[in-house]
Order: sequence, then structure tokens, then C-alpha cells
Amino acid sequence: MNILVTGCNGQLGTELQKIASGDNHNCWFFTDVDTLDICDKEAVEHCFSTHNIDVCVNCAAYTAVDMAEDEYKLAEKINAYAPQVLADTCLKHNALLVHISTDYVFGGDANEPYKTDDPVNPQSAYGRTKAEGERLIRESGCNHFIIRTAWLYSAVGKNFVKTMLMLGDTKDEINVVADQKGCPTWAYDLALAIVRLIELNEKKAAHETFHFTNEGQITWHDFATAIMEIGGKRCKVNPITSDQYPTKAKRPAYSVLDLSKIKEFAGIEIPDWRESLVKCMEELKPGLLRSSQ
Ligand SMILES: NC(=O)c1ccc[n+]([C@@H]2O[C@H](COP(=O)([O-])OP(=O)(O)OC[C@H]3O[C@@H](n4cnc5c(N)ncnc54)[C@H](OP(=O)(O)O)[C@@H]3O)[C@@H](O)[C@H]2O)c1
Repeated sequence: MNILVTGCNGQLGTELQKIASGDNHNCWFFTDVDTLDICDKEAVEHCFSTHNIDVCVNCAAYTAVDMAEDEYKLAEKINAYAPQVLADTCLKHNALLVHISTDYVFGGDANEPYKTDDPVNPQSAYGRTKAEGERLIRESGCNHFIIRTAWLYSAVGKNFVKTMLMLGDTKDEINVVADQKGCPTWAYDLALAIVRLIELNEKKAAHETFHFTNEGQITWHDFATAIMEIGGKRCKVNPITSDQYPTKAKRPAYSVLDLSKIKEFAGIEIPDWRESLVKCMEELKPGLLRSSQ
């Protein structure tokens, strides 16, 4: 199969590149905004027809959650209209679109894990643009897997894990919110699940929405505490409320995603959040040791 990855220099795209380097069966085409701007309809069409694309994994997105409150039009262009361009092109070329969405499409006021068919009710500009992207993909009629994930981190790019490690080196104590519950996702685990779904599909009709995070339910305070422990940092992590840490975009109080559908469909076990955090931090170890000295 010929597999196109957009936004390949981000957290998820980088993990897909690692997996693809050991794949002798498929032909992968990795692009980011400098080589393929997903908002450029003609460029997307040219790419699909030149490389005879069978699968497009859309890792490209506008992911600056707070800035999206001020840059709604730009976020909407990248998170909603560009996925529609990809969907229309996939439909034309009978290709499968694997699109990544977010827990922020939900209202965040549940008290049990969100199922894939629960109604969306985004509370932020970013969440609204991602929900709109999902809707436009479904309406296009193209074969698609939409995978909602949450709290994504990896050894590359900016993320909570790397921010905490940096603070662990520079602060004696920090305050982290303890009243928002979700589950982190190691981008490598999500990349493996995406490859599994692509292998299972083999050009069959697909109109499915899945949830993928690591297993478990924790708060940001729990997450920060674990990062400091595993990283050997002495920084104290104090629990605070969301009111004590105001952000431009509203964050969901509860955004745990129910994983049962993808586990059953793909026949996969999903690692516990802490197990994967340890593995990701192993990748960061040389940097960690250097900064702890
Ligand atoms: N990060 C999270 O915590 C999180 C949580 C839930 C869901 N998600 C979703 O998971 C997916 C992957 O997230 P990620 O953290 O890997 O994202 P990321 O690290 O921000 O990577 C996104 C990539 O897309 C590129 N890009 C932006 N606009 C583009 C365009 N018009 N054409 C082509 N590429 C473009 C970005 O380039 P620039 O850096 O140059 O802009 C970047 O390389 C996204 O759909 C995101 O919404 C993420």
C-alpha cells in the first residue's frame, strides 16, 4: 500500500516515521506543511495522483489550544476545512483517511468514560474546529477511521512531560491542577494502533470512530508527580484547582475515553499509562541525566 502521512514532523508523525523505517511491505510518503500544505487542494490532489495513495494518515493539525481562541479562522482552516479536502480527495481516489481527533470534542462534564457515539459538545475553539473536521469527514462519504486521542506526548516536540522535566530542573515546587481527569497517550502506542488498523482494513469500506489513549484515569497532578518520580526530580508537586490556574481555553474536567471499541475491533491490548510513560522517558534518558547533574 502507498501510505501518505501529513504533518509528519509533529509528535505522532515522528513516531509513525520510526515504525515505517522497519516496514518492508508498504511505501510511506512523509510530508509536512513545507512539502504538502493540507489546505492546498491542488497540491493534495497532485500528491494523491502522483503517488497513487491508498491510505492518508492525517497527523497535521492546529494544536495550540489557547491560541485557537484568538485564531479561530486559522484553526478552523487547518482542523476542519483541510480534513474536508483530504476526505474529498480520498473519496475520489478510493483511499482510506485515518484522521486524528481529540477528547476536547466532548463537554467534559461526564462521570464515566466517553463512548465513541456519545454526543459531542466542545467547550473551546480548538474543540469546535476538531468536531467540525470530524463532521465534514463523515459527511464526505469517504472511507475513514477517526481516532480521538488525548494528552498526547512523545520524546519530540512540546508536551507536558518535557515541560514538567524542565520545571523539575529549575523549580523546588510547582502547582498542578488536580481536578481535571483524563488519560495520557504515548504517541508511539497510538502510532502502533494506527498501523494495526490500516493493516486490518485492506481497502474495505470503513466509516468508524475510535478512541485511543493509554489505559487508566489520572489527573494532571498525578501525571506530573509520576514524571518527577520517574525522572528522579526533587521538585514538589502541589495540587491546585482549575480556578487557581486560569487558561484562555476551557479545559474538560473529565475527558476519559472509553477504549473498548478499538480494543475489540483491532484485537489489541493497550498499555497502562505509567508503563508507557516509563518507556518514553527511557528515550529521553541521556537528556534527563545531563539536566539532573
Ligand atoms: N497534542 C495533544 O495533546 C493532542 C491531544 C488530542 C488530540 N491531538 C490530535 O492528535 C493529532 C496529532 O497531534 P500532535 O501532537 O502530533 O501534533 P503536532 O505535534 O502539533 O504536529 C502537527 C504537525 O502538523 C503540521 N501542520 C500544521 N499545519 C499544517 C498544514 N496546513 N499542512 C501540513 N501540516 C501542517 C505542524 O507543523 P507546524 O509545527 O509547523 O505548525 C506539525 O508538524 C492532531 O490531530 C491533534 O489535534 C493532540
